Amino acid sequence: MEYQPEKDRYKNMFYNRLGKSGLKLPAISLGLWNNFGESDLFANQRAMITRAFDLGITHFDLANNYGPPAGAAEENFGRILKKDLASYRDQLIISTKAGFYMWEGPYGEWGSKKHIISSLDQSLKRMGLDYVDIFYHHRPDPETPLEETMATLDLIVRQGKALYVGLSNYSADQTREAAKILTSQKTPFIIHQASYSMFDRWIEDELTDLLDEIGVSAIAYVPLAQGLLTNKYLQGIPEDSRAAKAHIPFLKTTDISEEKLAKVVELNKLAKERGQSLAQMALAWVLRQDTVASALIGASRVAQIEDNVAALSQLSFTQAELDHIDRILAK
Ligand SMILES: NC(=O)c1ccc[n+]([C@@H]2O[C@H](COP(=O)([O-])OP(=O)(O)OC[C@H]3O[C@@H](n4cnc5c(N)ncnc54)[C@H](OP(=O)(O)O)[C@@H]3O)[C@@H](O)[C@H]2O)c1
Repeated sequence: MEYQPEKDRYKNMFYNRLGKSGLKLPAISLGLWNNFGESDLFANQRAMITRAFDLGITHFDLANNYGPPAGAAEENFGRILKKDLASYRDQLIISTKAGFYMWEGPYGEWGSKKHIISSLDQSLKRMGLDYVDIFYHHRPDPETPLEETMATLDLIVRQGKALYVGLSNYSADQTREAAKILTSQKTPFIIHQASYSMFDRWIEDELTDLLDEIGVSAIAYVPLAQGLLTNKYLQGIPEDSRAAKAHIPFLKTTDISEEKLAKVVELNKLAKERGQSLAQMALAWVLRQDTVASALIGASRVAQIEDNVAALSQLSFTQAELDHIDRILAK
């Protein structure tokens, strides 16, 4: 059946400006790291992307290596784009990345010009695109001179293969050094993609202050701690959960410790008192930071996307609630 987007899709989403740029991202973005691989049901992938778009999610985040196998998520997304969203390309922000292991040999990963240019060309081909909106260097490279990697990011913008660039998994110090080069080149560096959740607060140490200073926004990835910061693991490990999938090495059953679950129980209680699900409270919590323009969620089904977008109806916290969360997390 031909897909027709919801007419009122822009009514209930918030769009936040990235740093000092002209670009706005939806407060909730959808990432395709998991559940968009070769063995995941294509009909479900398509339902998730189109429902997300119906809910005002204009931003879809990919990387060269998302799958499995690596590349499959970009291929599947390309198929959905072609089938359902081709005429909406100008309403979409599509990002991809290079830097993690992608192919064998010395050019298949990290930050050389050779790797980044080849990888982006492959990504564009897999998705059937002329350009991506945001291109990230996915992780810092300890060996390649930073000047080479940053000059390559600049080059791809000049070539029209990306509109803006971002950095991911760079520490505050690495970001400061990279930003100096990008500023001197006048490269549109507008976003930093970093892990951030109630269980992973490292960006609060230095990174958010730096990003505010240089006028760059953050997008918070894994804001639900891969599903731990939801009610899904409160009664054991569901068969269809990420933790139960032996072929997905990212969330191990050993990560779901008694100590973490005890915190989840208390957080879940507080979320109920606020009249929201724990997933919704966890997303509101990352979005309380002004530096964070968007919470980058993952999902395995449409209902999760709907639940998560509904977080936007209750984003504010009292100081007492924030203190309560800090006390639970500190236990
Ligand atoms: N830059 C980087 O290095 C990097 C690294 C990792 C991720 N990322 C980006 O971040 C995105 C999100 O990562 P993530 O998928 O780990 O994020 P996440 O939002 O923390 O976890 C998503 C998982 O949580 C569960 N979930 C989501 N909503 C739920 C709800 N309302 N109720 C119950 N369970 C719910 C689902 O688990 P089940 O599948 O078990 O149902 C879902 O797959 C990725 O797709 C990628 O774009 C970037």
